[in-house]
Amino acid sequence: MADRKKKLDDLRSQRWYGPEDMRATSHRARSRQLGYSIEDFGGKPCIGIINTWSDMNTCHSHFKQRVEEIKRGVYEAGGFPIELPAMSLGEIMVKPSTMLYRNFLAMEAEELIRCHPIDGVVLMGGCDKTTPALLMAALTMNLPAIYMPAGAMLRGYYAGETLGSGTDVLRYNADKRAGLIDQETFENVVGGLSRSAGTCMVMGTAATMMSVAETLGMALPGSSSIPAVDSHHALMAASSGRRIVDMVWEDLKPSDILTQASFDNATIIDMALGGSTNAMIHLIAVAGRAGLDADLDRFDAISRKSPVLVNIKPSGEYLMEDFYYAGGLRGLMTRLKGHLDLTTRTVMGETLAESIDGAEIYNDEVIRPLDNPLYHEGGTAILRGNLAPNGCVIKQTAADPKFHQHTGKAVVFRDYVDLSARIDDPDLDVDADSVLVLQNAGPIGAPGMPEWGMLPIPKKLLAQGVRDMVRISDCRMSGTAYGTCVLHVSPEAAIGGPLALVQNGDLIELDIPNRSINIKVSDAELRDRKGHWTPPPFPATRGYTALFAKHVTQAHEGCDFDFLHAGDPTPEPLIF
Ligand code: FES
Repeated sequence: MADRKKKLDDLRSQRWYGPEDMRATSHRARSRQLGYSIEDFGGKPCIGIINTWSDMNTCHSHFKQRVEEIKRGVYEAGGFPIELPAMSLGEIMVKPSTMLYRNFLAMEAEELIRCHPIDGVVLMGGCDKTTPALLMAALTMNLPAIYMPAGAMLRGYYAGETLGSGTDVLRYNADKRAGLIDQETFENVVGGLSRSAGTCMVMGTAATMMSVAETLGMALPGSSSIPAVDSHHALMAASSGRRIVDMVWEDLKPSDILTQASFDNATIIDMALGGSTNAMIHLIAVAGRAGLDADLDRFDAISRKSPVLVNIKPSGEYLMEDFYYAGGLRGLMTRLKGHLDLTTRTVMGETLAESIDGAEIYNDEVIRPLDNPLYHEGGTAILRGNLAPNGCVIKQTAADPKFHQHTGKAVVFRDYVDLSARIDDPDLDVDADSVLVLQNAGPIGAPGMPEWGMLPIPKKLLAQGVRDMVRISDCRMSGTAYGTCVLHVSPEAAIGGPLALVQNGDLIELDIPNRSINIKVSDAELRDRKGHWTPPPFPATRGYTALFAKHVTQAHEGCDFDFLHAGDPTPEPLIF
């Protein structure tokens, strides 16, 4: 039984259901219209379950079943579950990019919670943007909230080879473009990859952000590592339903859980996982909603002293299923005890130290010891220089070491259409030392900052055996991708950042150990080019895209909407 800080009359839902007036009578009657008696919902915490299921979200196909398990847990604990569908953001099907809609889901989830009789909420997410979006909403609303991670899909297989989502598709696609395999083989490879419900099973954005959410304390301990179709996942869903009811009575809110130390812990774990570069943007946005600091310099300081321990693709060799059997996130945290602040809290109301008590590691090859890391510092490095005055990121563990310090001539593409049209042109003036530059693919330029940052290697170089080159853009890259890809250049080209001023043949110097990225062009020349620069057309004049482009912040600020960052809390709805 929960330690009850709240009384029945304190419940937010009582404003809808409690009074003896016409409006509340109508709320009670309409709930009975749904087949619920007053005994079902009267005097009980109303638990919203935000479900990001849809037939277009391939990673959340088990959510129809999981939501029933959450409801069972809520009923068992004496609550009343209310399922609220929200935009599902399936990464594969949504165009031009789910990033265009992360803030849309964050706003939708916030308003769903606000406008309904909700006392606490379970957030069902996993596929890339769903996790940060739901956390952003929950932190803003600051009602008791628990995140239920979708879990990763099972390992992929083709012809006896174990395959990882995205990572191995990209690798085989390069082979296909090089003429080494045919379309039929490629179809079979991709077909062998998606064997079950669940998110991508490499350490992509989904696996990274699910682990981050658990590290922040917003999910049940151990929950993020469970494969989506394992029976323990169903048990975890029911447990999440039971626990949220107690959290309501305990009045345990995100603001009671999240501190600066929680975010630093999440960054350390992200680095140890060799996590997705996208986590930088999402962590800044989530921290911003909590009123806490998470800027690029803080990430880089943590990255420099946080080793990569988890040996999972794309930085390593194994997959999320292996991570689970090796001890999962709780095991990893045990290994990183000396790096983490163990006094932070979780949705269980306990400390991180208590939540990892008894955790073990069963495979030192998957979760490496501290004296045998996969990489001596964090997977993500932050770079600055005259090409990116406000910063950019690179996944150094996924880059060929020969490019960690490299100078090459720029081959510039003004946007993605230009890139697609010319990258395989036999006459393109490019060699293996060139630096491929993509402009106008950022938050406003694309719009929505799609995952185009792993620019394709030109076919003629693929045929020569080239598999990595230095690539620079203001967009993102899939967490499943790899290569020497400098991403999130800020400010972006579409608002006149220095990236917009790069011309073919300019020398660009990348120096990861010294965290710099520079264009070897004089300040006077850059000023002159800026004077002749004209902005590209605004991406839209109406609708959500226009709203997005008008209000989205730059990558180093988290790409949240400026009007969602700060200001007075939105008032509770009047109930008439
Ligand atoms: Fe959903 Fe990768 S497509 S997590």
